[in-house]
Amino acid sequence: MRLARKDLLGLKEINKEEISLILDTSESLKEILERDIKKVPTLRGKTVINLFYEPSTRTRTSFELAGKRLNADVVNISTSVSSMVKGETIRDTVRNIEAMNPDIIVIRHPVPGAPYFIANLIKSSVINAGDGAHEHPTQALLDLYTIREKKGRLEGLRVAIIGDIAHSRVARSNIYGMLKMGMDVTVAGPATMIPLYIERMGVKVTTDIDRAIEGVDVIMMLRIQLERQIENLFPSLREYSRLFGLNLDRLEMAKEDVIIMHPGPINRGVEIAPEVADGPHSLILDQVTNGVAVRMALLYLLAGG
Ligand code: CP
Repeated sequence: MRLARKDLLGLKEINKEEISLILDTSESLKEILERDIKKVPTLRGKTVINLFYEPSTRTRTSFELAGKRLNADVVNISTSVSSMVKGETIRDTVRNIEAMNPDIIVIRHPVPGAPYFIANLIKSSVINAGDGAHEHPTQALLDLYTIREKKGRLEGLRVAIIGDIAHSRVARSNIYGMLKMGMDVTVAGPATMIPLYIERMGVKVTTDIDRAIEGVDVIMMLRIQLERQIENLFPSLREYSRLFGLNLDRLEMAKEDVIIMHPGPINRGVEIAPEVADGPHSLILDQVTNGVAVRMALLYLLAGG
């Protein structure tokens, strides 16, 4: 089976059936990661290029592992060791990479829309690994997978996404994906970090985190993205933590079987207390594990099928 599309650029443009296909394929492939020999020949002879213009630990490593687990040739390019530092444009960089005939280019770029620009430029498949504050579709897919794995379903579940909504590509992709899968989404955070008119996407909005977490099945905490803020949006980290951080006292008020998620990297003691991040409700490391399976599924569905 293949995805009937060349690229995976965002969850805005894919439908419920495609999301289900990706999650089901991830489930089949996850078993490979638990074997003693974690490798299958599925993508032998295929080439995956990871092109990262922004730092990454989880996404880049898991795309590399995903390609290698499927026996693809994987090449990593980062800005610091490429000709980008000599002033080569993204257009020239990508067209030169394309001349080497890769099957898939995975790109992370600070400019929203950069992966769309590249996808229109080349014949290889393009996967968006995060474009500015726009979308991070593979993160949302691994989040959906992790929730479904734990809860057994997605439809009807209630989710609170809390923190720096305005700068979060993870929030945006999750909102698209979760609503398509029939989930009920509330976003919460300081008013300065909630985009105007976000309720038009179909989510509920509050600045009261205690109200947001009441009765929900999933709490997704987000990092404050200081690198994308051009002005101070809150008085101090201490104040932010007191008003919007998830600590043990707040967790007491949540549902007994609530699950806690965070895309990483975590600001420990700011948006989430260490005891919560490392506690029994946390699925943060499960998200990372599942990221490899979900990215294997995407490489397989786009390049192999
Ligand atoms: N969640 C996420 O995108 O993490 P990295 O920035 O480490 O890839």
